[in-house]
Amino acid sequence: MGPLAFFLDMHPALGDFRNDVIEGLAQDQKSLSPKYFYDERGSALFKQITEQPEYYPTQTEKKILLENAADIAAAPGPNAAVFEYGSGASEKIEWLLNGLDRPAAYVAMDISKDFLIEAASTFARNFDLPIAAVCADFHGHVHIPPNILPAPARWLGYFPGSTLGNMTPALAARFLRRAGETLGTGAQFLLGVDLEKDAHIINAAYNDEAGVTAAFNLNLLTRMERELGADIRIEDFEHYAFYNEEDWRLEMHLRAKKQTEIALDGRKFSFAAGETLHTENSHKYSINRLKALFAETPWRLDTVWTDENQWFAACLLSNN
Ligand code: AVJ
Repeated sequence: MGPLAFFLDMHPALGDFRNDVIEGLAQDQKSLSPKYFYDERGSALFKQITEQPEYYPTQTEKKILLENAADIAAAPGPNAAVFEYGSGASEKIEWLLNGLDRPAAYVAMDISKDFLIEAASTFARNFDLPIAAVCADFHGHVHIPPNILPAPARWLGYFPGSTLGNMTPALAARFLRRAGETLGTGAQFLLGVDLEKDAHIINAAYNDEAGVTAAFNLNLLTRMERELGADIRIEDFEHYAFYNEEDWRLEMHLRAKKQTEIALDGRKFSFAAGETLHTENSHKYSINRLKALFAETPWRLDTVWTDENQWFAACLLSNN
């Protein structure tokens, strides 16, 4: 860990896959947290999703950020420090650090500890800048340890990828309030958000021709078999993704093609034909609904950068 300025471990509750599956299958609407998608195979499949022609969010956001890189990087002014939420492999940050005027520091936050330490350490070797890491999840409080990093002129939170969309609006507001506490008064926040659009486009993005999103969704059942010893007839289930216009969210489910059951730890969870296990929500916002969301937080919307179709938005918020 040598080159890191600090490593702060908040010991995030990783969740217990077995308990969460049993609890989730016992509900009326069976459900499971999308965090369980990302085992090794799931993470590789997600990367493949981002390369599918129908999956517009990643390519659109990348285009917006690169086309507006100079304006975005100028906004925080000199000596800002960047705090990235869900840094993963920190692939989407170099353009920002390279564009900022004398950045003061970079702090990577992620839930996956080994991956985080490795990515941040590699980063520390390649960038002439104090680098630190925080192992935490999105739903807890984070306090940046004082007096270790050089005091920045301001903090800039960075949360790309529309990951905020996985949270319900209530949880998204709580997340942003906590980010306001972590980053402090005067901070800015660069947030990537997927926008409301024609349902056909959204539906196509989550039902790609190559079937990668289906494989990503069905991988949950494979994980349950392999890691929990669940007895599942995987061929009885199909990927089901649709845009729910009332709640402005894409929903992913695993749907039983016929009456079937999942056996786990001596229990049997039966599925009627057509019954689903709800695996993910991906909320899509309008600028007005974003403003209403921010109104419940200390953040105000300063600037929106978008693409020519207004499919995706990079929002710059400030906490004044
Ligand atoms: C990584 C949560 C932003 O919601 O679009 C992609 C995950 N799920 N295809 C999204 C995902 C199915 C993705 N996020």
